[in-house]
Amino acid sequence: MPDRKRSRSLLERAYGLQTGDEALSLYRDWATSYDTDLVDPLGYVGPRRVADIVAARCRDFNAHILDVGCGTGLVGDRLAYLGYTKMDGLDFSQEMLEVARTKNVYAALINADLTQKLSIESASYDVIVSCGTFTHGHVGPEAFDELLRITHTGGIFCVSINTEIYESNGFADKLSDLEKAGQIFVESRVTIPLMTKEPVNGIIVTLEKPTTASARSFILW
Ligand SMILES: C[S@@+](CC[C@H](N)C(=O)[O-])C[C@H]1O[C@@H](n2cnc3c(N)ncnc32)[C@H](O)[C@@H]1O
Repeated sequence: MPDRKRSRSLLERAYGLQTGDEALSLYRDWATSYDTDLVDPLGYVGPRRVADIVAARCRDFNAHILDVGCGTGLVGDRLAYLGYTKMDGLDFSQEMLEVARTKNVYAALINADLTQKLSIESASYDVIVSCGTFTHGHVGPEAFDELLRITHTGGIFCVSINTEIYESNGFADKLSDLEKAGQIFVESRVTIPLMTKEPVNGIIVTLEKPTTASARSFILW
């Protein structure tokens, strides 16, 4: 029976991760009870809120979407509920991917490390979505270069970044550099609670990978 104390202690363990091996070990142990530990006990609404923001921006229900750090598939589950039909999930924990598989919402489940080069063709996706992966002890902004490479021009990113590490872990600088280089156009930054029963907030960044023409007009403007 999940209780709030257990859920908080797992969250603390997640936020204290120092290495990829520690993360793999945590999520190996946690995969089968992750949803029941987080959703009700801590009011984990982030995945639902991020999916809803994607839905407000992308009305193409056949868009090819990649959920990065998909975990057990909470984001994909909500996107499927909203009507999206073409989703893949990516995570480096095979145990989390196996739980995601049981949701029956992803076409492909890709085991890959976001801190490494991805074996995915350039311009494969229309939408990159992510919740809870750019956070304490997890993945840093260096992953954005590869994620941009695999996104179509004109495609969008909608990712949550934990507010407490947005500046300190270099996300603000990375986004600013990419924007100055004309590689992205940041459409919005919205701060929302990712959990309703813990003070965990995320900045949801929605950005476009501009076409060359729109990047050029943006720079001139
Ligand atoms: C807090 S969970 C979020 C899962 C899901 N998106 C959600 O909101 O419930 C973070 C996920 O990121 C994955 N992850 C952490 N580091 C990663 C890396 N370097 N490459 C790929 N996945 C990673 C973990 O395995 C875990 O499933």
